Amino acid sequence: MRQKVIVGNWKMYTTANSARELAEQISEGLANIHGLSVVICPPFPYLSMVAKSLRNSRIALGAQNLFPEMEGAITGEVSPTMLLDIGCNYVILGHSERRQLLGESDSFINEKVKFALAAGLEVILCIGETIDQRQAKQTKAVLDQQLSQGLSDLSPDHLSNLIVAYEPLWAIGSSGHQATPQQAQDDHVLIRSCFSQLFGDASSKTLRILYGGNVKPVNATALLRQADVDGVLIGAASLEATEFLAIARAGIVESLAEARQT
Ligand code: PGA
Repeated sequence: MRQKVIVGNWKMYTTANSARELAEQISEGLANIHGLSVVICPPFPYLSMVAKSLRNSRIALGAQNLFPEMEGAITGEVSPTMLLDIGCNYVILGHSERRQLLGESDSFINEKVKFALAAGLEVILCIGETIDQRQAKQTKAVLDQQLSQGLSDLSPDHLSNLIVAYEPLWAIGSSGHQATPQQAQDDHVLIRSCFSQLFGDASSKTLRILYGGNVKPVNATALLRQADVDGVLIGAASLEATEFLAIARAGIVESLAEARQT
């Protein structure tokens, strides 16, 4: 059984006060989680502060990016060492906003993925196609490429710390669109089969694949109930404690239901 993972991506939102308040509300609301992982990813300046708010909780801390060096004369960047130092155990890499707005290539993302895993972080690698690519029936080719290049030369020893997040660009943010649970399931099966070509069947069966793109309390249960959806990556709804808590609780319910079936 693959343990479910619920991730909140705060992007470039919150203030020091609202970040502390949100972290405290989430930590109090999820005092007794077990059987699944919950991760929140605040902006860099608030990581240390949120780490303190989470000190006695079971919620993990993640960053939204890093630079693939341990230290150096690299102005404005943040290293895996720094993240680990302040209690951050996860990092989101390859988010479509960074690919599109900052021109991050698959090969640069690959360097980051390898470096972060070798440093001991759990990596959430985001992949996904645009609406044009989907309409041109290129979804499989795009996912294949982002996975094979993003994970090139990866040591098999690090695979257990890798999570893939499928985030179709047409379903993210204010697009107003959502993938149906069946679309998410079908694309996760594609990803798992591509991963199996790269790393073998056994590794593909244990790979956790999250869905991201307009995940809200209203669609979370149906998404989390799909056999190949092992969790969700939440943007906008992770900024509202009640919404994030409702989604995380849906994850707890689905995890318990799965555990009973096995
Ligand atoms: P959204 O963002 O939930 O606001 O669609 C998801 C993401 O971009 O990670």
